[in-house]
Amino acid sequence: MACVNASRIALVTGANQGLGRALVEGLAARMSPDDLVLLTGRSHRRVTDAAGEVSRLPATRARVEGRVLDVTDTDAITRLAEHLRARHGGVDVVISNAVTRLRPEESQAERADEFIDVSNTATHAILRSFGPVLRPGGRLLVVASSLGTLGRLDPRLRHLFDGASLDQVEYAVESWRGAIHNRTAQEAGWPVWLNVPSKVAQVAAVRALAAERRARDLAAGTLIASVCPGMVDTATSRPWFSDYSQAQSPAQAAAALLDLVFTEGADPALYGELIRFGKALDWYDGTPPVEQDGILTP
Ligand SMILES: NC(=O)c1ccc[n+]([C@@H]2O[C@H](COP(=O)([O-])OP(=O)(O)OC[C@H]3O[C@@H](n4cnc5c(N)ncnc54)[C@H](OP(=O)(O)O)[C@@H]3O)[C@@H](O)[C@H]2O)c1
Repeated sequence: MACVNASRIALVTGANQGLGRALVEGLAARMSPDDLVLLTGRSHRRVTDAAGEVSRLPATRARVEGRVLDVTDTDAITRLAEHLRARHGGVDVVISNAVTRLRPEESQAERADEFIDVSNTATHAILRSFGPVLRPGGRLLVVASSLGTLGRLDPRLRHLFDGASLDQVEYAVESWRGAIHNRTAQEAGWPVWLNVPSKVAQVAAVRALAAERRARDLAAGTLIASVCPGMVDTATSRPWFSDYSQAQSPAQAAAALLDLVFTEGADPALYGELIRFGKALDWYDGTPPVEQDGILTP
């Protein structure tokens, strides 16, 4: 992240707990006292409490402010981006991280609208609203997963996301949503487990925006990418895994993502890609995961 302004601004969505909160803690520890980290989430109490706790950590150097941002309110996303442009001239770091918590015993189809709104509709709004206000040398990262490579999808669906524009990704996501509502999703090849198409669509959306602005961003040292944190021990992920021995703490998982924020310049090999532990994953890699009794085996 280039130090182009005296004061830098970072923003993380879904940041009152889990990985998002660890990202805020890491940003606040590594940015300067003049900088501002916005810890955002959907509950006023939860963001206020979390921002207060992070502010009091001994390692915290930057100012940390809680800000209500329910990412299902896309107008609020637009307003916040516009506010930061008008008030501060733009933003330096945006990390789109929020996710809906699903439990293994729940019907995925019944939670699909909320899940898609939080992970996909919101990501599209963040890319569209914050892309234009990202300062030179900035970072726009979407937390996806290794489930986000194209090979994870049924071959019949891959053309929807391969080389797609942002409009086309939005269209594909709404087709998927419609198929869930019409109960035709499975016959069309969409998996029961929402996280796979959702993460593929997030990665595709980032690829689409990155393709539009690659040359300009690389010249300015700006990085737009999706990121895979690996397995992280959080309240959302814990019910899905029987063996947690390999899971990272949120702080451990945040470290590799924060390295992308604080390494100067933008590596052309990483730009626009899905990055895991500092390396780009091949977009075409992966096979559709096997779904067994609601538990997914990647
Ligand atoms: N954990 C893993 O093993 C793992 C692996 C790969 C990728 N990831 C990705 O990492 C990211 C973070 O996951 P996590 O495990 O840290 O989840 P988490 O601990 O459950 O945190 C999710 C956050 O999203 C917030 N959120 C939910 N709905 C929201 C809304 N409408 N508006 C704003 N914020 C909202 C939650 O707020 P509330 O507190 O109000 O619910 C919470 O702060 C996700 O994108 C996830 O897919 C995680």
